[in-house]
Order: sequence, then structure tokens, then C-alpha cells
Amino acid sequence: MDDKTAKLEEVKKNILNTTLPLQDTATNLVFGKGNPEAPILFIGEAPGKNEDLEGYPFVGAAGKQLDKLLSLIDLGLDDVYIANILKYRPPKNRNPNVDEIKAHTPFLIEQIKVIKPAIIATLGNYATKFVLAGFEPDSMKQIEGITNLHGINKEILIKDEKFVVIPLYHPAAMLYRPQLREVIEKDISKMGDYLDKNHPSIQRRKKDPQTQLKF
Ligand code: URA
Repeated sequence: MDDKTAKLEEVKKNILNTTLPLQDTATNLVFGKGNPEAPILFIGEAPGKNEDLEGYPFVGAAGKQLDKLLSLIDLGLDDVYIANILKYRPPKNRNPNVDEIKAHTPFLIEQIKVIKPAIIATLGNYATKFVLAGFEPDSMKQIEGITNLHGINKEILIKDEKFVVIPLYHPAAMLYRPQLREVIEKDISKMGDYLDKNHPSIQRRKKDPQTQLKF
């Protein structure tokens, strides 16, 4: 087991040894998945029904959309790391309250400290506000919404660590607002340009010319 994988296992064990809100109503802990050596960490909001059942983030419809979107820049979900702010599913996907968020977020911060991503891609309004507020739920109100922030890279310094944050619409938004598809694709393509320029050594898959993207 490599160093980051072993350290992430420790974080996971810590969560399992902690009594957390939302734990009692959830089926599984949804910790995170992907390549911890990747320079990109995607942050989503909370596990949904499929994620709760399987114990992995983004295994449902939103994850399929995200995987297809990433294929536009020769990446897939397995080439990045992905985790949620909340580690357990809120019942019926209700919005979490502040106490729940505050109890869960230290573990996301632990994951970030281990992974040390160069880029944090935030998925949706909630994750974007949380990260740009310096991981402080109380400061989220001061941050603009995703409509104004999507696709605009922001460099942030958190506890002396520098990250580039790329705010993106949540891929699930495309499912109920199909007109967003073009916007999201453009933002992903900008992200690909940023990677070409700043992280040319990141492993990308070769585009298969036979692959037809069907959303
Ligand atoms: N939406 C999220 O934000 N996270 C998941 O894991 C699934 C859907």
C-alpha cells in the first residue's frame, strides 16, 4: 500500500471510530475513491441513494455524467480523486444542518491534507462556497453563487497551502437543466487547457475516436 493510500485508510478508520450525525440513518460510510496521487481532487456535496448503498461517491447518475464529461479531456473518474463534504447520506437527501456539516468537514480536510491536490474542482454551489470560504461553514454566506463563479479558477491559500480551485456546476444539474450541458462542457474544456499548460505530465487517456459521447 503506498503512503497516501495508507494515510487515507487511517482517516477512514478515524471516521468509523467516531460517532457522527447522519451515521445512524445511513447504510454505509461514503469515504472517497480514485487515485490519491492525482493532482486533482473533486469535491461533491453528499452521498445520494446509490452512493449510500454502495459505499462509494458518484456511482449513480451524477457520477456517470461526470465520467463522460471528463472523457472530453481524456480523463475518467478513476484518474482523479473524488470525495464529498458529508460522509454519510442525509435521509431522503435533505439539506444537512450546520452542526452536521461542522461534524463531517474535519474529515474532508484530513483527506485534503493527505492528498495535497494542486487543483480542487468543486461540484455545485454548496461545495464551491464551502471551499472558497476556507472550509469555514460560517463564512459561506459571504461567497458568491456558482452561477457567477463557475469556470473561473481561483487561487486560495489555506493554512499556508496553495490550491487552485476550479468551481464547476454539479453534474446532476445537467440532468434537470439540459441547457447547462454546454456551459459545463465549456468549463471542463477550460480545465483541460489549464491542465495542458500547468500539469502536462498528468496521465491522460488517449481519446478513442470510436467513442461516441452519449449524455
Ligand atoms: N452527488 C454528490 O454531490 N455526491 C455524490 O456522491 C453523489 C451525488
